[in-house]
Amino acid sequence: MSVSMHRVPLRGRTVGEIAAAVPGATEVFRRYKLDFCCGGDVALDDAARQRGVDVGILEKALNELEQSSNAAPESRETRELIDHILARYHETHRRELPELIKLARKVEAVHAEHPKVPRGLANTLQEMLGELEVHMRKEELILFPAMRRRSNGGLDAPIAQMRHDHDDHGIQLRKLESVTDNFTLPADACRSWQALYTGSAKVANDLMEHIHLENNVLFPRYEDLPQI
Ligand SMILES: [Fe+2]
Ligand SMILES: [Fe+2]
Repeated sequence: MSVSMHRVPLRGRTVGEIAAAVPGATEVFRRYKLDFCCGGDVALDDAARQRGVDVGILEKALNELEQSSNAAPESRETRELIDHILARYHETHRRELPELIKLARKVEAVHAEHPKVPRGLANTLQEMLGELEVHMRKEELILFPAMRRRSNGGLDAPIAQMRHDHDDHGIQLRKLESVTDNFTLPADACRSWQALYTGSAKVANDLMEHIHLENNVLFPRYEDLPQI
């Protein structure tokens, strides 16, 4: 499957398609809070309207992106892309989430009386890690080895299951955003609280990038059914 950028109007394409084809587009979508992973099946102009963003501004930002970035993960060969996903995302989630859970427990305990305390954040992060661990193991033990053995197609059923898991991760992400009030710190937040939100926002961004690379770039190479 070709993953190069074709010069077609951006407005008729979905957010997920653009995220897959235009290196750097995910950063633009994050900036304007457009969902490019779980909710990526929406046309760019509809997504912009839903977020109250001028689609012209989005198109300008996307067109300005450097088009020649061969190192972008979206343009990598499958084996290299899988290696990148494992090293950059699977290992990073496993390293960062346990630390954040500890930090969240501490902040929730120390600031229990604070009106903005992120009550339930540690449990939400714990649930995320638990679900991610099970999910990532399925990819590492079953799906990715199957992809390494073949060049394309034939994996619709396991991929459908992984897409379903990703939708559940999307629900966890919304929970994370709501319990932290979109990672908004109170004026008197201590350093631990600041570190907790900085780290949680990074995990959320990483998870969105991770799901995007799988849903929009890697998985379509192995699906026979056309995407709805
Ligand atoms: Fe993954
Ligand atoms: Fe995944």
